[in-house]
Amino acid sequence: MLKVTVVCENTVGTPENLVGEWGLCLYIEKDGRKILFDTGEQGNLLSNAAALGLDLKQVEALVLSHGHSDHTGGLRAFLRHRGRLPVYAHPALFTSHYSADKHRYIGVPFCREVLENAGADFVLTREPREILPGLWVSGEIPRETPFEKPDNKLYCQENGKKISPDPLLDDLSLYCVIPEGLVILLGCAHAGLVNIIKHARKVTGVSQVYAIIGGTHLGPAPASQQEAALTFLQGLDLCLLAANHCTGLPVIARLASLFGSRFRFAPAGSTFTLPLQED
Ligand SMILES: [Fe+2]
Ligand SMILES: [Fe+2]
Repeated sequence: MLKVTVVCENTVGTPENLVGEWGLCLYIEKDGRKILFDTGEQGNLLSNAAALGLDLKQVEALVLSHGHSDHTGGLRAFLRHRGRLPVYAHPALFTSHYSADKHRYIGVPFCREVLENAGADFVLTREPREILPGLWVSGEIPRETPFEKPDNKLYCQENGKKISPDPLLDDLSLYCVIPEGLVILLGCAHAGLVNIIKHARKVTGVSQVYAIIGGTHLGPAPASQQEAALTFLQGLDLCLLAANHCTGLPVIARLASLFGSRFRFAPAGSTFTLPLQED
């Protein structure tokens, strides 16, 4: 059994005293074991999880999709609450990520030592890693799809030099294998949605994509890239597409119309039990 609960998202979808914040945090239960994927931005994951009846102290590992603060801002609050645990991420997690739109640093808002003192045992890996039976941290995702371009409003600085666009090599996803196929959990999909799906198939050896949940980053993508990605998605025979966060409302509306009942919006408070039960 795989159950995914959206703890933090830009919006709130259930009347359970949840707080919306720009960011993402998913609570994953697989065969009785618990993993947290990202921490949102403001630390509301603590009160949101409590309101949803989720015990963050039972989480046995944290996976960070990438260094952006809307996924790592709740880190210190979570670590103080949970105590020491493994934190999986890419070695480029602490890259100095910047936003040209916001004119500011948008990377991890804590230094590594502060987080280690608060309980983070970092496991930084470029390679795919199966952290629970059938649950993979993707590792670095090869950029192979010509139409998937990096977001040129995001840049980074290396040794005082501006690197534009930010390659965001730290962007990771989670790949879950269930008997019905592959469930792909996205953070922000900066690596490119199609790149991620192809990589997930290669890493797991499972070609049937059953579900995709999370931020697609299609919202900020150029129209031509959006169209090409939507065409690719339509060819997948998905049973569930639960997009949120950086997908953006116009693309969410398109997806809802293209995928009908197979599409679900996924604000904070949403839960997905997979495989889906027949009504
Ligand atoms: Fe991001
Ligand atoms: Fe994000």
